[in-house]
Amino acid sequence: MATRHLLRVGDLDRLDIEALLDRAESLRRDPKSTRSRVGAVLGLALFQPSTRTLTGFQAAMARLGGASVVLSNLRMRPEMSEPESLEDTIRVLSAYCDALVFRHESPDALELAVAVTSCPVVNAGNGDDEHPTQALIDLFAIRRWHRRLDGLRIGIVGDMRGSRSTHSLIGALVHFAPAEIRLMFPHERGLPPAWRVPSLPFTDREGRLDFDDLDVLYMAGLPPGTGEDVVPGETRAKLRLSAADAAARLPSRAVILSPLPRIDEIDRAVDERPNARYFEQSGEAQYVRMAVLERVLA
Ligand code: CP
Repeated sequence: MATRHLLRVGDLDRLDIEALLDRAESLRRDPKSTRSRVGAVLGLALFQPSTRTLTGFQAAMARLGGASVVLSNLRMRPEMSEPESLEDTIRVLSAYCDALVFRHESPDALELAVAVTSCPVVNAGNGDDEHPTQALIDLFAIRRWHRRLDGLRIGIVGDMRGSRSTHSLIGALVHFAPAEIRLMFPHERGLPPAWRVPSLPFTDREGRLDFDDLDVLYMAGLPPGTGEDVVPGETRAKLRLSAADAAARLPSRAVILSPLPRIDEIDRAVDERPNARYFEQSGEAQYVRMAVLERVLA
């Protein structure tokens, strides 16, 4: 990798990504094959809610033979004790750890954390900017289904503006010559110009689903929003994947993936379809996280 940290997907080139996915695949086939990080300590400092990233990294570290410490952010609540600055909190935690997984609602907090840590940092979501390990998890799931990453037609549905998972996935796809990246999104939730990489074959569908000829359907999700940012119920309904559409309109070769959590963008009845792989994607993510931890703890 370009640096000892994994802060953005741009830190990885194609060879890095393929090496990580290959390692994750070996670990998936034989998860008990390694205790390569016995004695290592992973710190988890997640200042936003998490299910998969928190427990997935803890499970990955345990499988590698190491231990995890999880920061409780109670000091951020004034009624519990004196508030402590983010810098001091991270400086203290990182001194106990060999690597740090960090998530914060502010995109800029990541640089601040890196500046005060002595150990490698893995970005687990910096505001609405990036979520690079999620992109690796997504690529792993795509490759498991299609046995390749090049030349695919990939549909992404959701909030292109605010989905950090989408941004990192797009950044990773730069290395794999997709045939099309079809973006389906509500009005004013289009992809920011910074992510419109000129070499990528984007097509846009505002406010509607179009599954024609897709190989991958990535349901990135739509946050409810507040105030002027609320996505109207009518738009949400137009961008929801129903069981009927999954059966009749989506090609059977198209794998359905999602970073999760699900709000309402995928009907629960879709879960039973053979190409609905989002829970497998989430479960197998632990092998990707193991591969990432092995790398940053090397
Ligand atoms: N996909 C993902 O990052 O999930 P969590 O928010 O539960 O960690």
